[in-house]
Amino acid sequence: MDLNARFRNVSVIGAAGKMGSGIALLLAREMAFRAIEDQAGSYVLNLIDVKEVALEGLLGYLQEHGEREAEKQLPRLRQLFRGLGDDEVVQAFVHELLRHVRTGTALSLARESLLVFEACFENEALKTGIYRDLAHLCPRETYFCSNTSSIPLHVLSEASGIQGRLVGFHFYNPAAVQQLIELITPQDCSSELKELSLELAKFLGKTVVPANDIAGFIGNGYLMRDGLHAIAEVERLAPEFGFHQALYLVDRVSRDWLLRPLGIFQLMDFVGLDVFQLILNVMNQHLSEDLHCDLIDRFVRKGSKGGVTLSGAQKDGFFRYEKTHPVAVCNPEADDYTPLDQPWAWAITERLGEHPDPTLSWKNLNRDPQRQAKLAAYFQGFKQGSTLAVDLAIRHLQADRRTALKLVEQGVAACAEDVNRVLQLGFLHLYGPINDYLSEG
Ligand SMILES: NC(=O)c1ccc[n+]([C@@H]2O[C@H](COP(=O)([O-])OP(=O)(O)OC[C@H]3O[C@@H](n4cnc5c(N)ncnc54)[C@H](O)[C@@H]3O)[C@@H](O)[C@H]2O)c1
Repeated sequence: MDLNARFRNVSVIGAAGKMGSGIALLLAREMAFRAIEDQAGSYVLNLIDVKEVALEGLLGYLQEHGEREAEKQLPRLRQLFRGLGDDEVVQAFVHELLRHVRTGTALSLARESLLVFEACFENEALKTGIYRDLAHLCPRETYFCSNTSSIPLHVLSEASGIQGRLVGFHFYNPAAVQQLIELITPQDCSSELKELSLELAKFLGKTVVPANDIAGFIGNGYLMRDGLHAIAEVERLAPEFGFHQALYLVDRVSRDWLLRPLGIFQLMDFVGLDVFQLILNVMNQHLSEDLHCDLIDRFVRKGSKGGVTLSGAQKDGFFRYEKTHPVAVCNPEADDYTPLDQPWAWAITERLGEHPDPTLSWKNLNRDPQRQAKLAAYFQGFKQGSTLAVDLAIRHLQADRRTALKLVEQGVAACAEDVNRVLQLGFLHLYGPINDYLSEG
């Protein structure tokens, strides 16, 4: 059965969540275009979530983003809705986008779906239970795409009796915008599903990087170890500088010296420390490597979990935020947050030493066509003089390179380029961790 046939009845489970709502938007948008161009076809998009109230919010989200999408796509839509003014075109598109959507809390809504996306909490037992139910409800030809960020797919498919019919179709947040799909095809995956997944990704305008079915895959396999390295650095530096000072230093260096969009601790807060802990636990359970972290456990226990509010503001984690801007850093000794805009932070920043090129930042290099040459020259400059920040940056680059190489050695990624592409497309890094910036000559 081809993708066209499957696309006539699609379900998203966990549709009102962060990832589910993005996946729902993406599918609703594509379904609307498809339905407008194929007037004879009938299309259904079932959006299922246990939170009824959140499903109402989801419809508002689809309406709002549908309007924005229509405005962006006006030239294409004017051709499809000839004779209508621009405002009417937008309304007609949003109507089309919502027309195919059914929302509900019962899994049985998915019973005629031939393609099911699942984006529920990252919990093996929960996901297994859902797939078991779906195995009974849906036709035998139905294919399932899980958004799990860490649970091996073969574990889910074996436990629920859908061997051969499940892939990891790992969107990055926000799913409707981010380019990357990490595609995990477990060994039992049928060749038809593999091909269909590639076609589906292309059809949704995404770029696929394949990953093997090993807990954490490439993205979290990398991120978890990146976070653990940063925490180990804080613990190493804390006796000399103090805990919150060390945390601030490591975060600053990982953002401003490594030229990344966010410092590592801000990124971990954004992901959510509880989510981070959960993924470490999954990886711990399935890999023979100790990926447990006491510090994360302590933060989660005391309720400093990070994450984001519905309006996109970051919540207290390692840092406290005003919207998305860190304004204070956690200070476990005082059991409070210490403001950043204070003499201690200026003094400790001095100790980092001068930035090798203060004109360079992630933001201004991001769109710079010369950026590869500039990055190479910038990192070569690290060899010229040692400052605290440069030393920390080099240690961080080396640790990330070791992690990335290990992902290749362990067969999580097929090659170095795949790891680099996940970091560049999924984490918006300017460069991959496997590079020769620090090599001699
Ligand atoms: N948040 C991210 O940045 C991110 C990125 C990539 C992948 N993921 C993965 O995507 C999945 C979802 O993550 P999220 O951050 O969107 O979580 P979330 O908590 O925002 O959403 C999960 C949704 O699942 C719903 N749900 C729970 N049990 C259900 C059930 N039995 N039936 C139907 N709906 C149910 C919840 O009500 C909630 O709306 C996880 O597997 C996660 O690992 C998350």
